[in-house]
Amino acid sequence: MAKKVKEHTSLPVIGVGQVTAPTDIATIFSEQKVDFIAIGRSLIADPDFIGKYLQLVEGRIRPCSSCLTGCLGRIKIGKGLQCEINPEVGRELEPLVHADEIKNYAVIGGGMAGMEAAITLRQRGHKVTLFEKDELGGQFNLAPLPSGKASLQKQIDYLKHEVAEIQIIKKEAKEEDLIGKYDGVILATGSKPFIPQINGLKEYKWAEILYERNIPRNKNVLIIGGGSIGIEIANTLIDYGNNVQIVEMLDDIARDMEMVSRKLNLQKLKKNNVPVYTNKKVERITDSSVFLKSKNVFSDFRIDHIDIYVVTAGMSSEKELLYRLGNRIPIYPIGDAEKIGDLVSAIQSAYLTCKDL
Ligand SMILES: Cc1cc2nc3c(=O)[nH]c(=O)nc-3n(C[C@H](O)[C@H](O)[C@H](O)COP(=O)(O)OP(=O)(O)OC[C@H]3O[C@@H](n4cnc5c(N)ncnc54)[C@H](O)[C@@H]3O)c2cc1C
Ligand SMILES: Cc1cc2nc3c(=O)[nH]c(=O)nc-3n(C[C@H](O)[C@H](O)[C@H](O)COP(=O)(O)O)c2cc1C
Ligand code: SF4
Repeated sequence: MAKKVKEHTSLPVIGVGQVTAPTDIATIFSEQKVDFIAIGRSLIADPDFIGKYLQLVEGRIRPCSSCLTGCLGRIKIGKGLQCEINPEVGRELEPLVHADEIKNYAVIGGGMAGMEAAITLRQRGHKVTLFEKDELGGQFNLAPLPSGKASLQKQIDYLKHEVAEIQIIKKEAKEEDLIGKYDGVILATGSKPFIPQINGLKEYKWAEILYERNIPRNKNVLIIGGGSIGIEIANTLIDYGNNVQIVEMLDDIARDMEMVSRKLNLQKLKKNNVPVYTNKKVERITDSSVFLKSKNVFSDFRIDHIDIYVVTAGMSSEKELLYRLGNRIPIYPIGDAEKIGDLVSAIQSAYLTCKDL
């Protein structure tokens, strides 16, 4: 586009949009022949983007994933400018300071919140050990899988790179690993899917269905729960020839989704004639039929011939370790373990908690 404008005018042309890496700058100057490049969101994600590009500032660029969740998304819901990966946005005048007293902390859970917590504690001079029983990145490893979201992988790669110097113990942390061994525990154990009691529901999938190896082809799929995760799964399964239907107990779907993504997702569902049953709950399932109960109407509704059920009815915080530890050691819950949210809230709660420890 910029190249075409340049061909038709002698005025200076400024290229703009998703310049998120040094290689983008070189490519745009050489291929688009622009005179200048304007950079927006990459400077929100990392105000040192240009300094790092010019190698005047050390360190890896904290990348913008073009998600809009924190910046435009938070502005649109009245919370002001934020960023999913930069918790310092809006707090530029309150920099991190070195801790007065150096302590030894265990961070339990190497999801995005746990990694951010470990990095922040370390920057403040504390000793940190990070426990992860499965995979660094936690449930956010699933976030780049739905169509159009691959750029989110950058955030996982960035935080993994930043924790590389931190001691990581690859095991499930138990009480005996922690009591008497650390000054405090950062509880970043995340969340797990909430599965409602549904009579007859035996086999079901969750977001792990998004892994290429798990994606069904040409099946009849019922998504139970039309929040952002359910809607993204629906739109991904459509691409593989599946017939998808969605049941949501509230009066609208994708209510928790950033507005631009929501619009695109809803358009795709509409274009593919996906039946969406709002104000309805799955009441029971028999071998061949699913019975829905309407909130506002006094009659039941029936869907037949479903091959696969996907349950995306929300998440619940994983707090078992919190209860087990009791008050034997100071505990600081962060991220989804504290309150179910998104990457913006996970990163911010990690940073803000550890900023004051
Ligand atoms: C499919 C999907 C798509 C999503 N898309 C987006 C999106 O586009 N944008 C967005 O902002 N958010 C998105 N989210 C939500 C986002 O991923 C979460 O809010 C966020 O990642 C929560 O991070 P967390 O670190 O608090 O928890 P988690 O990611 O759940 O991490 C917890 C970690 O703790 C580990 N753990 C638990 N107990 C122990 C123990 N005792 N010892 C050692 N390790 C332990 C677990 O293995 C896990 O790695 C998505 C979620 C899903 C499932
Ligand atoms: C938080 C935010 C606010 C924006 N506000 C405006 C605006 O008021 N007017 C406008 O023309 N563009 C606005 N934009 C679009 C940007 O000017 C720019 O075109 C866009 O972000 C693409 O560039 P980038 O990928 O480098 O961010 C806004 C973008 C963001 C993220
Ligand atoms: S919230 Fe997302 S799009 Fe906005 S600046 Fe941060 S990483 Fe970029």
